[in-house]
Amino acid sequence: MYSRIVGTGSYLPVGVLTNADLEKRMETSDAWIRERTGIRRRHIAAAGETTVDMAEHAARAALDAAGCVAADIDLIVVGTCTPDVVLPNPGAMLQGRLGNRGGPAFSVEAACSGFIYALSLADKFIRSGESKRALVVGAETLSRITNPTDRSTAILFGDGAGAVVLAADDKPGVMSTHLRADGGYADLLYCTGGISKGHDPAGDHIVLAGSEVFRHAVTILGRIVDETLAANGLDRSAIDWLVPHQANIRIIQAAARKLNMPMERVIVTVEDHGNTSAASVPLALDVGVRDGRIKRGDLLLLEAFGAGFTWGAALVRY
Ligand code: COA
Repeated sequence: MYSRIVGTGSYLPVGVLTNADLEKRMETSDAWIRERTGIRRRHIAAAGETTVDMAEHAARAALDAAGCVAADIDLIVVGTCTPDVVLPNPGAMLQGRLGNRGGPAFSVEAACSGFIYALSLADKFIRSGESKRALVVGAETLSRITNPTDRSTAILFGDGAGAVVLAADDKPGVMSTHLRADGGYADLLYCTGGISKGHDPAGDHIVLAGSEVFRHAVTILGRIVDETLAANGLDRSAIDWLVPHQANIRIIQAAARKLNMPMERVIVTVEDHGNTSAASVPLALDVGVRDGRIKRGDLLLLEAFGAGFTWGAALVRY
């Protein structure tokens, strides 16, 4: 038994924050941001618009694309580090919104690797026979934990959601997933507050040691790509599309070089979305599917890296 992606969907908030807007707020420039990150703009949730609101839009689009209704879903897994509230969990909230009852619904917190972690979990539920059809979502309102005047982070992060419907099938589908973490690097990328540590009413925010995280991301992603190919006995030439986490165009280019892939075979959304953490991989996947680049039968390599550090990859026959 395998799991297959039978539908994708995504959602971006209407509000857009451009590099020109940021130039007015802080000591930075459009040229610097584009050259160092590849980002031109990012979408920002409206006041009152939440992670679950965006997850619901993306989930409904994925259900439509899969040709199924919420009642067909027997598992919901949401990857996010920006839940609406501490409880109920965003998976259960999404289940309530969709009017789908009874199956397990939960969230996983693995920062930018959240969707890969969620996909891997849902794949295991389906492979074990415990679930038949799963909704897997990555959704974030990173703008709520980003200091809008900090030029080391405000230029990077955006909001959005992406989703896939996974269905049981006798053919893959998801061929393998690989999840990793190294908690020894917690100090390089973190949020200043939360729940049990306490909350700063003046605004908890993400702190990023940019160039150090950058170096680790390039090395670690190179390694996970090798591990994924080796586990499947495949050469890098077998990959049709790289669907990477969208943190920085230079990190994406390094991963493509490692795979010897031309950038034309990489789905890049960082220019228009910025880094949307757990939402970035399913958002990029949905863009590639809907614009017709990714076709049924193509072999996809999904990868992500984030705070923790956490990282992971999935090899998927679409
Ligand atoms: N505008 C203009 N100048 C800026 C700036 C900005 N927004 N941010 C930093 N700078 C300056 C720095 O102060 C520094 O100046 P100095 O040389 O006078 O000290 C210079 O630009 C270089 O800074 P540095 O941090 O070394 O730049 P960088 O090339 O590493 O780019 C990031 C910074 C954040 C874009 C990059 O490190 C990055 O993308 N890191 C990884 C992000 C990531 O993957 N995050 C999450 C994983 S999910």
